[in-house]
Amino acid sequence: MDERVITSKELKEDSFEGTIRPDSIDEYIGQSEVKENLSIFIKAALMREEVLDHVLLYGPPGLGKTTLAYIIANEMGSNIKTTSGPAIEKSGDLAAVLSTLEPGDVLFIDEIHRMPRFIEEILYSAMEDFTLDIIVGSDASSRSIKIDLPKFTLVGATTRVGDITGPLRDRFGIISKLNYYTTDELKQIILRTSRVLDSEISEEAALELARRSRGTPRIANRLFKRVRDYALVMGGGYIDLDITKTALDKLKVDEFGLDATDYNLLESIIEKFNGGPVGIDALAASIGEEASTIEDVYEPYLLQNGFLKRTSRGRIVTDKAYKHLKKSKQESLF
Ligand SMILES: Nc1ncnc2c1ncn2[C@@H]1O[C@H](COP(=O)(O)OP(=O)(O)OP(=O)(O)O)[C@@H](O)[C@H]1O
Ligand SMILES: [Mg+2]
Repeated sequence: MDERVITSKELKEDSFEGTIRPDSIDEYIGQSEVKENLSIFIKAALMREEVLDHVLLYGPPGLGKTTLAYIIANEMGSNIKTTSGPAIEKSGDLAAVLSTLEPGDVLFIDEIHRMPRFIEEILYSAMEDFTLDIIVGSDASSRSIKIDLPKFTLVGATTRVGDITGPLRDRFGIISKLNYYTTDELKQIILRTSRVLDSEISEEAALELARRSRGTPRIANRLFKRVRDYALVMGGGYIDLDITKTALDKLKVDEFGLDATDYNLLESIIEKFNGGPVGIDALAASIGEEASTIEDVYEPYLLQNGFLKRTSRGRIVTDKAYKHLKKSKQESLF
């Protein structure tokens, strides 16, 4: 299990997320294009007194998909019911959720790419005609029944949009991609969290935290919380730049947000494979990790920030990484 402080995956310690989650579109920082579009669609739906089209949100973990689903329900003035792809195993599971829906409700399905295919097929008619077609009974006594559903909005979230089938994708009227946040946006998020949690932070300290948060609000909030503890124990509680730097160094998160795992990966490629190219399987074996963990969890940020490059022949460490790790390139002997 990945327990790095800078992992973008949700950890137990993030359970405070509920209290610092923005609940209106105006409080939701960044993602301006997504917000603008959604605001217009929401306003139009409200003016027409219709339900909002189904919405698919995708992007890396911790960027605010769940948050946005709740905001959509709030802005529509409706209730939200939540479930997730892996939680729906049988057609009865889906029927049970759908039958609790009231007119105008938002149904949030997290990790929607992990829904079994035959469930997906039942969802099609629910999304299109607001009817539920299911088969009840077994063998000779089985029959198909059709149940009318109230009009609702399905909000689906996924970190892997490539795993969503074409037919499912096509049934979403609104498809929005969330991107990594800029340093300035993360700084705003940290300042907001500091106000909500009532623990003061200096502007410079917020900027420093933002820089090391890998473009991800979840990481920014988690680092904020850790640094806040240091400030409380080591100082008077006020979070200044000094405390922030000390705390982040202790947490081994460097000025680019890289931690020991990132260093290990980059150094392995440099030292064992002369900087690459190296295939994912060879790399995985050399650092003792699953190839899929490298691809889903370790690599994206390194690729995004130009420390690593993916080529047809494998991964290559970039000049930027050599410089950052203070390594010099070994010239080939031949
Ligand atoms: N735009 C934003 N403005 C302010 N805070 C945000 C924003 N986006 C996310 N956050 C904060 O980051 C935390 C993580 O966001 P959220 O749980 O919505 O991510 P997610 O995309 O659903 O992640 P996952 O893929 O792991 O489900 C939230 O608790 C929220 O406080
Ligand atoms: Mg989520």
